[in-house]
Amino acid sequence: MKQFDLQSLVRPNIWALQPYSCARDEFSGTNGTFLDANENPFGTLNRYPDPYQRELKTALSKIKHIAAEQIFIGNGSDEIIDLIYRIFTNPGKDSVIICPPTYGMYEVSANINDVNIINTPLLTDFQLDMDEIIKKTKFDSSIKLIFVCSPNNPTGNRLKDVKYLVENFNGIVVLDEAYIDFRADRTYLPKIKKHQNLIVLQTFSKAWALAGGRVGMAYAQKEIIALMNKVKPPYNVSELNQKAALQALLEEHDKKLSISNIINEKEFLVEQLERLPIVKKIYPSDANFLLIEFSDANNTYNHLVEKKIIVRNRHSQIENCIRITVGTPNENRLLLKELRSLK
Ligand SMILES: Cc1ncc(COP(=O)(O)O)c(C=O)c1O
Repeated sequence: MKQFDLQSLVRPNIWALQPYSCARDEFSGTNGTFLDANENPFGTLNRYPDPYQRELKTALSKIKHIAAEQIFIGNGSDEIIDLIYRIFTNPGKDSVIICPPTYGMYEVSANINDVNIINTPLLTDFQLDMDEIIKKTKFDSSIKLIFVCSPNNPTGNRLKDVKYLVENFNGIVVLDEAYIDFRADRTYLPKIKKHQNLIVLQTFSKAWALAGGRVGMAYAQKEIIALMNKVKPPYNVSELNQKAALQALLEEHDKKLSISNIINEKEFLVEQLERLPIVKKIYPSDANFLLIEFSDANNTYNHLVEKKIIVRNRHSQIENCIRITVGTPNENRLLLKELRSLK
């Protein structure tokens, strides 16, 4: 295995950081007379939540077969993406590799953190350009992070070369598996036990149907999770959201059912869309959305918006392509009706 020196990748001030010690850090029991956190003693949501979301992590740990100390919970994965930049990059000095077209927050968070972006676009089959990535990482020691998204948003495909990347890059590989529950058999998550430089992101926002709850997860070696815990705001996941996520885990059966409904509806959509003359190509998708090439994406998009059907026009990234989320059976039929009316 290659040598891995975590400290050399971490921003020195973060490595040395003395984290804020909140009241519930100093006493974490549940029984007692709590006069320590300046809370209002009356009410139902009057207490600060568990800063380390222990109950939720214990439940996740059982489902994912990952030790609780290797799990971080964020206020959505978007919070975790930002934390990763803050931990591993020096603003104005370090670089990140991003492989567009992909999820936009990797770029926005890099810009917020003043991190140099080295764009390495996906190849025409939407796979990683490994030759370019290897060339760039070999000669540029400022590259601390690579973000890869699999299944990728907005293309919907899984990326093939994650293993090679993790084994050959000396920095941190962030593998965003926001959509992996729609192809759960292909998760790379168990590999965090083997690879010290891998962070896997997942979320409650997609298959778990809890986007409004804002609960995202990072899985990594425990030293990386400890750094995230140092940097995060003390009570980053609200009591309500921790409870909602726990409840979702208890109702795993509902999740499985909604995944199979979504997959069936996706197949139905593909079958119907293929018949439309305005549809030029439907990209294979392992996620809960389809990337579709139309003869005129702008025209199609404008027509749908007029009918109050909101989809994501990706024409500026991928010519004439629109990303469409799989909705309820009614929503999908409404979409098809409007698309059929377009010549
Ligand atoms: C690839 C990817 N990662 C992360 C997110 C954001 O996830 P969360 O809702 O957990 O912040 C999204 C949202 O669309 C996404 O597509």
